Amino acid sequence: MTISHIILDQLRAIVGPAGYLDQPADVAPFTVDHRQLYRGSTPLVMRPDSTAQVSAILKLCNEQRVGVVPVGGNTSYCGGATPDADGSQVVVSLSRLKKIRHVDPLNFALTAEAGCVLAEVQAAANAVDRLFPLSLGSEGSCQLGGNLSTNAGGTAVLRYGMMRDLVLGLEVVLPDGRILDGLQSLRKDNTGYDLDDLFLGAEGTLGIITAASCKLFSQPGSRVTAFVAVPEPQAAVNLLARLRSATSDAVVTFELVPRLALEFVLQHVPSTSDPLDQPYDWYVLMEINGGRRDHALRDAMEAELSLAMEQGEICNAAIAESEAQREALWRLRETIPEAQNRAGASIKHDISITTSDLPRFMHEGTRAVLAVCPNARMVTYGHLGDGNLHFNVSPPLGMQAGPFLALTETINRAVHDLVAQFGGSISAEHGIGKLKRDELKRYKSPVALDLMRTIKQAIDPNGIMNKGKVV
Ligand code: MLT
Ligand code: ZN
Repeated sequence: MTISHIILDQLRAIVGPAGYLDQPADVAPFTVDHRQLYRGSTPLVMRPDSTAQVSAILKLCNEQRVGVVPVGGNTSYCGGATPDADGSQVVVSLSRLKKIRHVDPLNFALTAEAGCVLAEVQAAANAVDRLFPLSLGSEGSCQLGGNLSTNAGGTAVLRYGMMRDLVLGLEVVLPDGRILDGLQSLRKDNTGYDLDDLFLGAEGTLGIITAASCKLFSQPGSRVTAFVAVPEPQAAVNLLARLRSATSDAVVTFELVPRLALEFVLQHVPSTSDPLDQPYDWYVLMEINGGRRDHALRDAMEAELSLAMEQGEICNAAIAESEAQREALWRLRETIPEAQNRAGASIKHDISITTSDLPRFMHEGTRAVLAVCPNARMVTYGHLGDGNLHFNVSPPLGMQAGPFLALTETINRAVHDLVAQFGGSISAEHGIGKLKRDELKRYKSPVALDLMRTIKQAIDPNGIMNKGKVV
């Protein structure tokens, strides 16, 4: 169903000439997702610059039954912000809602609008000697609204939690245009259902988050970063437990890296080099931070690593001696997705299970993938500390992308069935979008799905919000 010219003109009038894009070349970037899995179409990209404009847009779209697709930095891995191909939806980009409304170092809180780039939110916290801990590879382009709507994870979840855990309150425009103002920065508020929680991770299917009040933390006084070689994943799990215990939970980052991922990075990403003198099968990038500006933390970590080395639980370690070295170690981890892309086709999974079960899952999962595609190359990396791995698969050497990608569904089935057997999740941090909607139907319990549909129907009875995503 195409949208009438009259409605499109009314929408343009709400935002004025600077607030929309309707020329094909300008609209084009909003019709394809980050991974180029989906291509959609839209006659209009709206760029409101106030919550009142977002409210007017949704009110009109709801009255006229026009579909709306909200978009932030367009870095979704699951096609969560791409319109359908039939041109029946308008896109609402939040990128002009980019004010940091309030920074409150005394209350360790900050209120920012949805279009703020994550790095800008981090910088606003830094400027008052506070920390906004959410950290991900795309932080230079992803936006707070997208982080909230997808409940983003990243590399500091172990210590600080996911986006959901960092929210004090939300401002949300409901599908009928009403504004739910919950921006107070209260730490405690036990007055019934947690309405904010409904919109976090809803991927724009229940309304548009326009601003959030977020938790800030103290800047760490000291920080130690190391790249550690381990003989096998079980050793990494053991090391995590002993480091958490030895540092009273000061471990912020604990990321598993297999040799093949490091090789992809060394081969495809400029200015990278192997920090250790010989190759090892598995590595962990770890970072520990603490409140005191002294060597106690580093001493504790070095003592644990020495002990682990004596016991054969680690093979080797490089500890960053400067900020430049720290950045170089981080680059080896953060550029893995980009390096794997450059290396060719890949089939990605974003699974979570109990951390202590991960080694057994990896063993059985690898066997299941190889049964479907012999000699496939496993690139299993990621947030071991959160029980969340990107259980990614690259094709066997010499196999063309086409025949390999034709195995996607069979490989997904093998991996996700195993995840279900382990009581895990098929989407730990990337969300559902279009990509995993059918998988969600298959693996989520019927009671949970029924509740999700009831909530969707109650809040968006006309089904205008981000149709075709999640539920
Ligand atoms: C990561 O941890 O690097 C991201 O979640 C992206 C990915 O799955 O590759
Ligand atoms: Zn990740």
